[in-house]
Amino acid sequence: MYTDNLATKGIILAGGKGSRLYPITLSTSKQLLNIFDKPMIYYPLTTLMMAGIRNILIIVKENNIEAFKELLGNGNHLGINITYKVQPKPEGIAQAFLIGEEFINRDPVALILGDNFYYGKDLFNQLNQLGKEKEGGTVFAYRVSDPERYGVPEFDCNGKVLKIVEKPSKPKSNYAITGLYFYDSEVVDIVKTLKPSKRGELEVTDLNQIYLKKHKLNVLLMSRGMTWFDTGNFESLFNASSFVKAIQERQGLRIGSPEEVAWRKGWIDDNDIKKIGKSFANSYGDYLQSLI
Ligand code: TTP
Repeated sequence: MYTDNLATKGIILAGGKGSRLYPITLSTSKQLLNIFDKPMIYYPLTTLMMAGIRNILIIVKENNIEAFKELLGNGNHLGINITYKVQPKPEGIAQAFLIGEEFINRDPVALILGDNFYYGKDLFNQLNQLGKEKEGGTVFAYRVSDPERYGVPEFDCNGKVLKIVEKPSKPKSNYAITGLYFYDSEVVDIVKTLKPSKRGELEVTDLNQIYLKKHKLNVLLMSRGMTWFDTGNFESLFNASSFVKAIQERQGLRIGSPEEVAWRKGWIDDNDIKKIGKSFANSYGDYLQSLI
């Protein structure tokens, strides 16, 4: 699945205020809440793993770091490497590249938001079909009914993206730029040139706009066969949970299981997954053991 034009390193941004989910997120992190039967962060983690990424930095709020470590540890049980860094204040999505500068170490890097849920094989086919060019950035646009909540691409009559506008009051398209981004090794230097926006954040839309102006931004449209949720409010959290429940019940397969992906990739073996399955001693554990 992994192609050499893609990043080998990935960042999961799992800080933020989570204010739309107050009072629940007053005492815990949004990304530790459940989407049906798994912690939210399992889903973006699995997305990165499916893209072949095994070296992962998770950025969290200071008071939640121990809980994330308890959940995922150093990732060795999944055949991957996980490290952690704190974002002292939520000062923007693009700040992830400054916090992660040492981890990135001038390599290409993927960033996924910790509350973004992707489902459908089209995305992974798209990742595979990307050209071999090592320069530039790649982002994914998805058709939504409420584009004004997101970064919105404006297209010309040939479907070329002219610009991306953050939370426009009058969106020029029905597309949202989703929370999965791939950038080349220039990204840290470019983020260093960004100024905080009016809301005091380093905006990922400003970063994308710079790549776009240099004609180095690949905006891929995700097909309607794909599912994408940003699970930051109660409705979308509930909808994502219902979606996972419905598909899992129908197919008898689990969505967003990092243990399963690690095993399917050959990063852990039968014994490893059996051991994990046994330690859970519930239906999720039974499922993991049944895969062998
Ligand atoms: P948002 O949903 O935009 O913000 P939030 O999580 O703080 O929630 P709310 O608007 O309800 O207060 O963030 C998208 C994702 O990015 C989410 O997983 C949190 C993460 N994030 C950070 O970790 N640090 C940041 O500085 C920002 C802006 C977001």
